[in-house]
Amino acid sequence: MDRIPFIIGNWKMYKDASAAVELCDQLRTTIRVVGDREVGVAPSFAVISLVHQHLGRSRIRVGAQNLHPEPEGAFTGEVSAEILVSVGCTFVIIGHSERRQYFHESDQFLGSKLRAALRANLDPVFCVGETLQERESGSTEAVIRQQLDGALGSLTPSQLSRIVVAYEPVWAIGTGKTATPETAQQVHRFIREYICERCGMQSADRLRILYGGSVKPDNVDALMTQPDIDGALVGGASLKAQDFARIVNYQV
Ligand code: 13P
Repeated sequence: MDRIPFIIGNWKMYKDASAAVELCDQLRTTIRVVGDREVGVAPSFAVISLVHQHLGRSRIRVGAQNLHPEPEGAFTGEVSAEILVSVGCTFVIIGHSERRQYFHESDQFLGSKLRAALRANLDPVFCVGETLQERESGSTEAVIRQQLDGALGSLTPSQLSRIVVAYEPVWAIGTGKTATPETAQQVHRFIREYICERCGMQSADRLRILYGGSVKPDNVDALMTQPDIDGALVGGASLKAQDFARIVNYQV
């Protein structure tokens, strides 16, 4: 099964309005999106509209880093899937480890966010990953299974077939310590097998599983040679157009 690789830049809480416009202008000239890969950026909520306008017809997709599960309502400070769609988003990151860690988002709450994204036709990019302590104690697979069970448990196979999973080991995020391609591959394979158990071979085969955690121009090629790594979720290196372009143009 050919899965179209998906490379996403997660800008986190970086890039104010003028820096975002500058980066968009650079991305438009450095990134040529070709049919064999998809590219997206996830800016801060406040500049999504601006980024969408400035990326124009570049075919670089715009997404968000979070959402609230309700379609609308008295939820001060929150943003719904429907509002995200109205400003040009086509995907949304859900369950990033920084959301889990700093904002105490539970697997169950993340499940409701996944359903909200699907309701609005946004592609959810659902993040899972273990901490260093969990890896060292040998519980990586148990942790990932729990995260998948908790959030995906209530989804139907047809809903599941619309999600993208991102494996982001917490110890590799922003630390410069990338998982080796083999270590990442093992977990990606585990995730695919989990989906196979839940929804069968066809859905598992179709599922895109991205790797995130210190992806850089000098390690992306090796990561992308692995059979179950279908793209990357890039933090720090996505803030520089040249680096992000090199990652997008990985060579295997
Ligand atoms: P870094 O690429 O900076 O390690 O961040 C990874 C990440 O959290 C992407 O969502």
